[in-house]
Amino acid sequence: MRADIIRQLIQAHADGDDAGFRKAALQLAAAESAAGHTRIADDLRRQVATLSSGRSRGSVVDIAQPRGELADILEGGHRDERLRDIVLSDSAESELTRVIKENRARASLERHGIQPRRKLLFHGAPGCGKTLAATVLAGEMGLPLLTVRLASLFSRFLGATANHLRSIFSEMSRRPGVYLFDEFDSIAQARGDSNDVGELRRVATAFLQLMDTDGSPSLIVAATNHPELLDRAVFRRFDVVVPFEAPSEAQIAQLVRLRLEPHGIDQGAADAARLGLGLSYADAARACDDAIRSMVLDGRDKLAEEDLVAAFQAARRRGDEQGQFHGRS
Ligand SMILES: Nc1ncnc2c1ncn2[C@@H]1O[C@H](COP(=O)(O)OP(=O)(O)OP(=O)(O)O)[C@@H](O)[C@H]1O
Ligand SMILES: [Mg+2]
Repeated sequence: MRADIIRQLIQAHADGDDAGFRKAALQLAAAESAAGHTRIADDLRRQVATLSSGRSRGSVVDIAQPRGELADILEGGHRDERLRDIVLSDSAESELTRVIKENRARASLERHGIQPRRKLLFHGAPGCGKTLAATVLAGEMGLPLLTVRLASLFSRFLGATANHLRSIFSEMSRRPGVYLFDEFDSIAQARGDSNDVGELRRVATAFLQLMDTDGSPSLIVAATNHPELLDRAVFRRFDVVVPFEAPSEAQIAQLVRLRLEPHGIDQGAADAARLGLGLSYADAARACDDAIRSMVLDGRDKLAEEDLVAAFQAARRRGDEQGQFHGRS
């Protein structure tokens, strides 16, 4: 693969094709990342960044964004999120850290005839960090995050869904990345559903077969709110299963500090965390943003404890109202 990229580089240089040259250089960086050579990959990307600002005013081509037939089904790009940007349980953190290490050591592992673990299933309630964790994996590995749009996979190409799934899996070898299958239950659930013997069932079976044969350098992340809909045959295909749970008080306090420290919050995180218990991380993050809004509208440049407490009280009321709306007590 690398020889191909180098040929592209030389050709682009010969043609005076700046965009093509940057694209090939970024591809080379992605290949180095996938091989676990993250430092070389970072250096290459830095070099490309100076190239594009210095030499040309043309738009920067993001090689992560798929084109052609897959453009409608896969969307993606390079990500900057890192482990420091996410609050995780101890066990989730050590799992993810380990997966990152294994994938960075891919070349050495393969010399011993084994692969890093790279097929991950994330499950848990909405707003608890599944998508963010996939983003962090991409950021840490220096790989693009490519999200599979299941809705377009199913609706636009009904009848050809299994073929498109195959194209996505071939893309994983050609274009190393973190491939995120969000709302994964919509693929996998169909297998056990005796009412549907057609398209969906074929897709589910195809997915399992593709998972079995896939040996690409990409990471596969499937995320779902409904692990109970997945049968054991599906679970078995994944190397790592990570549950994402609603935050504890301590974890909300950690999130508040993470998001609000730059705005000078030193007090109030603990009070907010107590008020926030029962919220998801996403709700708590939104409350933090609301607190910043109040600060700005009041013409202050430092958060007050009241901003935070009021925002969390409002978030809690919203949560209660939604609970009533959905018939929960
Ligand atoms: N564990 C976390 N640490 C820090 N921020 C978080 C965490 N979980 C969620 N957030 C915040 O909430 C937003 C939404 O979270 P995310 O999209 O990762 O949730 P999800 O688990 O994928 O939810 P869904 O099941 O609805 O897809 C994130 O972009 C981030 O701002
Ligand atoms: Mg999500």
